[in-house]
Amino acid sequence: MNDIETEESTALKAEISQLIEQQGPISFARYMELCLYHPEYGYYTSSRTRIGKQGDFFTSSSVHSLFGRLIARQIVQLWQLMGEGPFTLVEQGAGEGFLCLDILDALADETPELYAQVEYRIIELSPDHRNRQRERLAAHVAAGRINWCEFSGLETFSGCFLTNELVDAFPVHLVEKQDNRLQEVMVNYVEGAFVEEFAPLSDPRLADYFQLVQQPLVEGNRAEVNLASLDWMEQVTQKLERGAVLTVDYGYPAAELLAPWRRTGTLLCYHRHQSSDNPYQHVGCQDITAHVNFSLLEKVAAKQGFATVYFGEQYRFLMGLGFLEELIRLQALESDPKRAQALRMTLKNLILPDGGMGESFKVLLQTKGLGEPELLCARPISAIGILPDMV
Ligand SMILES: C[S@@+](CC[C@H](N)C(=O)[O-])C[C@H]1O[C@@H](n2cnc3c(N)ncnc32)[C@H](O)[C@@H]1O
Repeated sequence: MNDIETEESTALKAEISQLIEQQGPISFARYMELCLYHPEYGYYTSSRTRIGKQGDFFTSSSVHSLFGRLIARQIVQLWQLMGEGPFTLVEQGAGEGFLCLDILDALADETPELYAQVEYRIIELSPDHRNRQRERLAAHVAAGRINWCEFSGLETFSGCFLTNELVDAFPVHLVEKQDNRLQEVMVNYVEGAFVEEFAPLSDPRLADYFQLVQQPLVEGNRAEVNLASLDWMEQVTQKLERGAVLTVDYGYPAAELLAPWRRTGTLLCYHRHQSSDNPYQHVGCQDITAHVNFSLLEKVAAKQGFATVYFGEQYRFLMGLGFLEELIRLQALESDPKRAQALRMTLKNLILPDGGMGESFKVLLQTKGLGEPELLCARPISAIGILPDMV
């Protein structure tokens, strides 16, 4: 860590340890919330480069503009299914603004009728990211297409609610099954270090969670419980009168997420492109994430009348939208073979299963009021008509 990071991290540690001295051990969710979103020293609040080569991790939208351009194709189809009128696109957690830029660039180039009618609303918690977004998106702001709002201030709307790697950044509670009882992992501060301790559940909804997703926790196992994702999906689907919720994130259906062999959960931290499972180091200077329970999101949205029209790995989703055809087209535009190869390697990150983003990332598309559409993203791989060895 550099000097500024060390100073900020020391200040945050001191604040959290003081809080624990005053109140006793805090839930892991509170600890994670302070590490990521403390108003002054939180990982997402302070001024730093988080996303991309100079930061701590890549996101698909930071890898290549093709990710956003392909998502734009799905958005165009949703707009057509909704009658081609005024359309609101809400993106929460827009990071550097890459996805918004690529979607709006694609609409401006390829579907100007939609570009002229779209209102793109960004909900962004980090002041630093908001500044970066304003800079990157200046041309579309000047064209009157983008505005920023608070989640609580978002009125009911029709269109599409979009996120990429938002839900995995919500603070999670940690729960373990010990002696046949669910226990919560609390964070204490003892002799200059954060330590974990067990306590009875701090919120009855933590026990309800395992019943809701019909997946009991196995003795000795640990799991993250993302209650914030439950509340979030409930509110999103209440605000969206007609249209789609598109969620892209690391995660699994409940049976896979809470499988007996997954003994220690999925908590992962990222610092300078190194991953670790230790949330108590680099306090406030590393990202902390937990895989998303997509079954939970489906169940909550179903209560508000939303149907899952697509759920699958990112690679399938992108292939359905024309990834291979675009890869071949973009490669053909490169006259220098070395640059063509570099492009191929970059783009393959979006679909590769091991070490890439193709399989661990899932895409969930839920709609209300659109019937049972035949979606572009659901085009089967067998229908693509290009053999992978041609690429
Ligand atoms: C991992 S980054 C993903 C960035 C971006 N979607 C991308 O594809 O590069 C998470 C983003 O969500 C933002 N964020 C986290 N919690 C949020 C919340 N509750 N409301 C709005 N933004 C939030 C962070 O500040 C950050 O911009």
